[in-house]
Amino acid sequence: MVKGNILAVDDEQIILRSCERILSPEGYKVDTATSAREGLDLLGKNNYDLIITDIKMPEMDGIEFMRQVRTKNPDINIVVITGYPSQESIKEALSLRIIDYLPKPFSPIHLLEVAGHAMELKKKGAAPEPHVEDYTDEVAAKLDAIIAKYKNKPGSLIPVLQESQELVGYLPRVVQRHIAKNLKIPVSEVHGVVSFYSFFTMKPKGKHNVRVCLGTACYVKGAEEIIKKLSGGLKVEVGGITADKSFSLETVRCLGACGLAPVVVVDKDTHGSVNPVKAMDLLKEYE
Ligand code: FES
Repeated sequence: MVKGNILAVDDEQIILRSCERILSPEGYKVDTATSAREGLDLLGKNNYDLIITDIKMPEMDGIEFMRQVRTKNPDINIVVITGYPSQESIKEALSLRIIDYLPKPFSPIHLLEVAGHAMELKKKGAAPEPHVEDYTDEVAAKLDAIIAKYKNKPGSLIPVLQESQELVGYLPRVVQRHIAKNLKIPVSEVHGVVSFYSFFTMKPKGKHNVRVCLGTACYVKGAEEIIKKLSGGLKVEVGGITADKSFSLETVRCLGACGLAPVVVVDKDTHGSVNPVKAMDLLKEYE
């Protein structure tokens, strides 16, 4: 059974091939277009659950493409995938209610996550609300207080999200919906901002967040081994959180401290020249 129909629009063939290579084996039907015009033609002929589009394209760019798509398909899910967007294009993409943003180069896991989320949104209404234990009545009341502080002020969304993340630790969908409802803006706008900025996270973090650098300098000096040791020692996958919620483990690209490679950052502490074999020793002081 086809999981969903996806249209990928990019003037770079290599990106289109990557989308096909990653999404097709997972059950998605992927059509590709090398220009916005070709994309609009395909949209006129077929129904799609998700459009993945580049921003920088010759003739018609992704922003104009999305504008034209929105006039015909106000509710279709759109994800932007691009290398170096300007602040201007970010703002415009958000105002066109993108549901997510993928920086190039993107990982297969991230692309599949985005596609899965788009299909979930499509089914929304029928899907049960996942229970989030961090969203209690008390938390909801505190969120209301944060929102009240910024309501009706221009540019209120980002400070509200920042304080809400400080309060809850992350921004699950239920919290995003709460904020959207009370700021009287579409959920897609809130989700677009949360997805766009890397300092916002939708995943819960442990009491201590462990980030292993996977940039080139760290990689060649054993970052992969560090991840294996930490993942095995903590019994947690990358992106996960330990059963007792003490630690979360994630990977990051270059942390800008290549001279200290391999680098692991625990909370705000940077640990350089980490011995891959003894990586778990690092965490003793945090236990
Ligand atoms: S590659 Fe790890 S800090 Fe730069």
